[in-house]
Amino acid sequence: MSLPDKYRVQVIAEPSPEVLKDLFAVELSAHIDPWSIDQIEACFDPCTEVLGLYQKHELLGFAVVRVILDEAELFTIGIKTAFQGQGLGRMLLESALAACVRRGARCCFLEVRESNAPALALYRRCGFTQIGLRARYYRACAGHPAENAITMRWDYACGDNT
Ligand SMILES: CC(C)(COP(=O)(O)OP(=O)(O)OC[C@H]1O[C@@H](n2cnc3c(N)ncnc32)[C@H](O)[C@@H]1OP(=O)(O)O)[C@@H](O)C(=O)NCCC(=O)NCCS
Repeated sequence: MSLPDKYRVQVIAEPSPEVLKDLFAVELSAHIDPWSIDQIEACFDPCTEVLGLYQKHELLGFAVVRVILDEAELFTIGIKTAFQGQGLGRMLLESALAACVRRGARCCFLEVRESNAPALALYRRCGFTQIGLRARYYRACAGHPAENAITMRWDYACGDNT
């Protein structure tokens, strides 16, 4: 799926105060248990790539992937609520997987709340399959009970668009 011209996905290299503010705004909009600014800042290390999806200068979403040797992990992905359901999550995830492959990864792992239907649909759509379940992995928060995590895996196949 190619990205319409009005959007761009860009590696965010430096956690300047402005960038952290924009990333935190996405976290607050998208997630029921958002990361703190310190947690976001901790993602900026040499093994980790932070990819932002922009419309002009507005950050609409971001994803964080870590690559160690030939294995990647998707730490987080989120699109601001007002922009969900328009294919942007899929475009961002495809870009993140392509970034993993460029860094040498041949598979990618993630975990996701069992009740998170939009995320599960996105991951399945992009080729992830369930490999396990972690009981009560997510703590209770913001009125949501503790919850199981589904673990998933994606494998690079020659000929993938990534
Ligand atoms: C998960 C998330 C990133 C998906 O982004 P999005 O831009 O809304 O998703 P897209 O519009 O690209 O849709 C991707 C696929 O998932 C499906 N999907 C999206 N929302 C869905 C929903 N509410 N119910 C069922 N399927 C859904 C779409 O049908 C689409 O499949 P298709 O290409 O076959 O039509 C977004 O919903 C989000 O930010 N959620 C909050 C944060 C979150 O839960 N992150 C993941 C856990 S870390």
